Amino acid sequence: MSTSVGFLSTISPSACPLQERRSGAAPCRRLIRPRVSCHSNGDARQPPPSSLLMDRRDVLIALGGLTGGTAAAGKMALASPVMPPDLAKCHDAKSSGLGDNLKCCPPYTSADIVDYTFPETPLRVRRAAHLVINDSEYMEKYEEAVKKMKELPENHPWNFYQQALIHCAYCNEAYDQVGFPGVPVQVHYSWLFLPWHRYYLHFYERILGKLIDDDTFTLPFWNFDSDDGMTIPEIFTNDTSSPLYNANRDTSHYSSAILDYKYSYGNTAGSGETGNALVLANLCYMKKTFKQSLPLAELFMGDPLRAGQEADTTNGFGQLESIHNAIHMWVGTPTSPHTDMGDFSTAGRDCIFFSLHANVDRLWHIYRMFRGNKVEFTDTDWLDSTFIFYDENEQVVRVKVRDCLKPNKLRYMYEEVPIPWMNKLNCVKTTEIKEKTKTELSLVRVGPFGSEPRELSQTALRVMVPRPKKSRSKTEKEEKVEVLLIKDISVDTEGPARFDVYIAAPYGDLAGPDYGDFAGTFVRLPHKGMKGKERKGSLKLGITSLLEDLEAEDAEKLVVTLVPRVGEFTIGGVLIKLLQTDNPRLL
Ligand code: C2O
Repeated sequence: MSTSVGFLSTISPSACPLQERRSGAAPCRRLIRPRVSCHSNGDARQPPPSSLLMDRRDVLIALGGLTGGTAAAGKMALASPVMPPDLAKCHDAKSSGLGDNLKCCPPYTSADIVDYTFPETPLRVRRAAHLVINDSEYMEKYEEAVKKMKELPENHPWNFYQQALIHCAYCNEAYDQVGFPGVPVQVHYSWLFLPWHRYYLHFYERILGKLIDDDTFTLPFWNFDSDDGMTIPEIFTNDTSSPLYNANRDTSHYSSAILDYKYSYGNTAGSGETGNALVLANLCYMKKTFKQSLPLAELFMGDPLRAGQEADTTNGFGQLESIHNAIHMWVGTPTSPHTDMGDFSTAGRDCIFFSLHANVDRLWHIYRMFRGNKVEFTDTDWLDSTFIFYDENEQVVRVKVRDCLKPNKLRYMYEEVPIPWMNKLNCVKTTEIKEKTKTELSLVRVGPFGSEPRELSQTALRVMVPRPKKSRSKTEKEEKVEVLLIKDISVDTEGPARFDVYIAAPYGDLAGPDYGDFAGTFVRLPHKGMKGKERKGSLKLGITSLLEDLEAEDAEKLVVTLVPRVGEFTIGGVLIKLLQTDNPRLL
């Protein structure tokens, strides 16, 4: 394996980052962003990025970067997309469970990086994992491909473990953002989550196909949003000698155990359903997630993240990512370090990862369809965000978010399967809650959040939150979505973390014993905090439709209850805002 030292000695100090310089096709001007100069090896001559960053962040925040200022911030002259990492500066990665010295860098530190040439191969159809099990021809191919990938030389970029390290490098801070030393490249917790993983699967799938010389090969998707798909797919568990098998899992979740979207390492209080009730709870959760986030893409897909901005700082992830995080936890080992699936640095070592993500990707596609095929963010800071991958032709390629928005362009699609959560489901428990809360004796007084941050660890935090406007008209609702914003969340533990959010209508300042209806969740896998409490995320939940279901439209205030499930948090504030929808037509 070549080292970055050897590589650095060969470059001229005045050069632009090597990947840009060598490609010839791409002048280094591409990397020049306002006030950040283009040096590959010249940190000394660069303006101090921290001060730039301060300015930028202040501007972003001043313009409302946190709360629905997406459009405004996107039009800013200062705005800039996240750029691909500088391979030569890859360094040790870190994970809370596995330490600070993870070697996740790719086996190449320099490369001729070219723009990816999109394939013109036949359209590939990804099929449901629980359905392919009876297709022995397909199963043989899939196993053969993974076997070959595992047998490749350790340092081959296609090698199974090298492929897993791609995820580690992009998720566990092996790279700093170009021009922003100390600000890690991170593809979770923001609007980069879905596009990056779409590309990751794309290249992975095509490499597998190449290894067995089959240009129709596809990864199966874990259809976890259907009744039949809510157990761990048998293809990954039924044969311990299969190349698809992985021993680092919670084996108590094998066979007929039903997946719990609200899983948090044993603490399922408040969910607690089993059997068919759990299946229904999951379907309702999925339905709710879609319904609540249709008016505004960031609620589903995550907040903007721009060059120089640290993921997990001021911004937050979408609700699809939350559900996905819980599934990671449910598959991985139940005890720390929660390998493989329960920790980003190791998740790619389990074949099930790619099936989980294929379905996440499919759900994004469904979301897209529901919104009339509308591009979710027209902001060029999203569209021009750029990543680097190693493709099936052994070429290091550069890809942009804007080019992955249509699966057809990547030459794949999903087999059509029933979508049970689109059916009419008997979900809302409002009646039951109302009945119970009529017992006046059990009403409790709930106060406002207050101006100081509050801790959330053992017991639920209940606060009374005023709404900007009650009894809104249909037109008002079409224009603006009501959003519950939990801000400045710091996770004070490095292990897994989850709290759930419930809302209910109060009686004056009194709240009933029930927390009300589930509004959404904050779930994070173990995460090594670089700056501990300085890293503050936020959580945004659309509640317009939920309030209708709760018949709480006329309430002036809402009782918001945060229920900690695992981990400890500090919460900066809880408020309700009205944000401009980006999709009024479909409400
Ligand atoms: Cu990059 Cu499922 O995580």
